[in-house]
Amino acid sequence: MRRILLPLISLLGIASYVDARHNIIDHGAIHNQSDTATAFKNAQAFLDAVIAANSSETDREVYIPSEGNMVFTLMPTQLNHLKNITFTIDGYVYLSDDDKSWPNDGHTTNDFLYIQDSEDIHIRGKGTIDGQGYWWWMREYIVANKFGRPQILGMRRVQNCIIEGVKFRNSPRYHMELNDINNFLIQNLEIRVDVLEQKKLAIKYGRFNFKLGIPTFPLNTDGIDPAGSNILIRNVNITSYDDSIAVKPANSGFQIAKCSENIWAENLTTWMGVGMTIGSVPPNTNHACVRNVTFKNVEFWFPFKAVYIKSNPGNNGDGIIENILYENLKIFEPIWWNIYIGPQQQKQPDGGGPGCMIYPIIKECETQPRITMRNITLRNVHSVGGLLPGVIRCNETNPCTDFTFENVKLDGLISDFKYGFITENIFGKVIDSYPAPSFNQSSTNEDIEKIANYFKKYLHELEAVEE
Ligand SMILES: *[C@@H]1O[C@H](CO)[C@@H](O)[C@H](O)[C@H]1NC(C)=O
Ligand SMILES: *[C@@H]1O[C@H](CO)[C@@H](O)[C@H](O)[C@H]1NC(C)=O
Ligand SMILES: *[C@@H]1O[C@H](CO)[C@@H](O)[C@H](O)[C@H]1NC(C)=O
Ligand SMILES: *[C@@H]1O[C@H](CO)[C@@H](O)[C@H](O)[C@H]1NC(C)=O
Ligand SMILES: *[C@@H]1O[C@H](CO)[C@@H](O)[C@H](O)[C@H]1NC(C)=O
Ligand SMILES: *[C@@H]1O[C@H](CO)[C@@H](O)[C@H](O)[C@H]1NC(C)=O
Ligand SMILES: *[C@@H]1O[C@H](CO)[C@@H](O)[C@H](O)[C@H]1NC(C)=O
Ligand SMILES: *[C@@H]1O[C@H](CO)[C@@H](O)[C@H](O)[C@H]1NC(C)=O
Ligand SMILES: *[C@@H]1O[C@H](CO)[C@@H](O)[C@H](O)[C@H]1NC(C)=O
Repeated sequence: MRRILLPLISLLGIASYVDARHNIIDHGAIHNQSDTATAFKNAQAFLDAVIAANSSETDREVYIPSEGNMVFTLMPTQLNHLKNITFTIDGYVYLSDDDKSWPNDGHTTNDFLYIQDSEDIHIRGKGTIDGQGYWWWMREYIVANKFGRPQILGMRRVQNCIIEGVKFRNSPRYHMELNDINNFLIQNLEIRVDVLEQKKLAIKYGRFNFKLGIPTFPLNTDGIDPAGSNILIRNVNITSYDDSIAVKPANSGFQIAKCSENIWAENLTTWMGVGMTIGSVPPNTNHACVRNVTFKNVEFWFPFKAVYIKSNPGNNGDGIIENILYENLKIFEPIWWNIYIGPQQQKQPDGGGPGCMIYPIIKECETQPRITMRNITLRNVHSVGGLLPGVIRCNETNPCTDFTFENVKLDGLISDFKYGFITENIFGKVIDSYPAPSFNQSSTNEDIEKIANYFKKYLHELEAVEE
């Protein structure tokens, strides 16, 4: 903790001056107009303000104002080689909803704000960035997003960065994808997706039908997905209908972070999330790596999963997930598994098959021996009102070791779970926990048929509720 905080605190000095700032209005931005021409003009004004700040000795702040509740609609901006720049966003910013005109590189759409190869960046303010994701999500179901979907904030090879205050809403895809980064503080902010609209879309396009298909969550409106080192995330609320925070692996091919490590996420609340997640981690010939990650003081309301650690299929290379701590978790009415550690539960185009999605109804869900998992601790985890305790599965040729479950108490809907965890090849300690997972054995799946039937019945009931 100290190790993470100290370098960040010295960073806070960056923004201690405030006076002269580069207001986008002074660079030609027009508020309260949402047409495409204005959105491009505003993106140009924003870029001009950044260039002005970036070439000033003394005034290195870009300002999006809020006087008179101004709203600004913008097209995306890509920025390279910034150093010591503050973005103060007090106004309400919309991503343009003109997908036909949205810039792309011939393969993928540009992220809304993409910052690369930069240092000492501060993003702050009381404003909002609203992705207006609805039509992007809708088009995803009919496979009409030709170049994919933009993310609100994309960063690559950025060091020394603070992101705080600004609210993120309804991103077409992830809200923050932070790749190969180092020394980040993300705090005091909210990420919120209109999950009810997403659910309506899923039902409308038959993707919430548990009986026929798979309860996929294809929208990938993740909250914060970092791959990097020395990251502190605190006091953040996330409602996203997908992973809340998903720590992605780094590897020796990265330039800045060779491993995703030293990551601390504390004081978080999530609504309808798919987890405080590690992964997914596919094997990599450059050695995929996630190490020293702590999730502490987290409240999960109606999560699809709470603790979620997932490997991915793949036949080349290897990887590791180690020294992971989940501490002080409160889980309220989990919709699916409380705890899921094992092969990723999503249908992969390149393998994995549908088995993992509705495991154990379908049992073809291979564990991944190329990703070593060790020293994973869950301490003080309390759950109420769920239906299914969890799955913890490693491969027989590379068992998971040094797992600890301490004071992990899961109270099911009907006061007690009828069945315990499904565990395979997990070695470690269980202290004062209920239900107790069966560690130190190759497999405890004698209940698996009962669990599958129970799960099937439950899915049926959910479906009846949907209709
Ligand atoms: C910012 O300034 C640096 C150094 O002068 C320059 O290399 C870089 O291209 C500038 N970036 C932008 C977006 O203006
Ligand atoms: C960042 O820019 C501000 C404003 O120009 C300046 O006062 C400060 O010294 C700069 N910080 C660094 C670390 O260069
Ligand atoms: C701009 O639009 C917002 C939201 O629609 C409205 O509240 C505000 O009064 C408008 N501001 C101006 C200056 O027109
Ligand atoms: C998070 O949600 C809680 C409860 O609704 C609220 O008290 C808190 O201010 C929120 N924090 C942020 C950073 O939005
Ligand atoms: C989390 O909240 C607690 C209680 O408010 C506070 O003592 C602690 O410092 C917070 N943690 C972080 C990392 O800010
Ligand atoms: C990760 O944790 C281990 C064990 O506490 C420690 O030896 C190592 O220095 C840590 N790594 C980093 C990058 O902090
Ligand atoms: C296991 O991980 C914890 C963090 O959860 C760390 O404090 C501890 O030092 C690690 N143990 C070993 C042997 O690396
Ligand atoms: C363990 O891994 C091997 C090699 O990938 C695989 O063939 C096997 O099916 C896995 N075991 C299970 C139970 O998934
Ligand atoms: C597994 O074995 C280890 C080492 O013998 C022991 O410390 C631990 O308590 C055992 N775990 C369980 C759940 O029995």
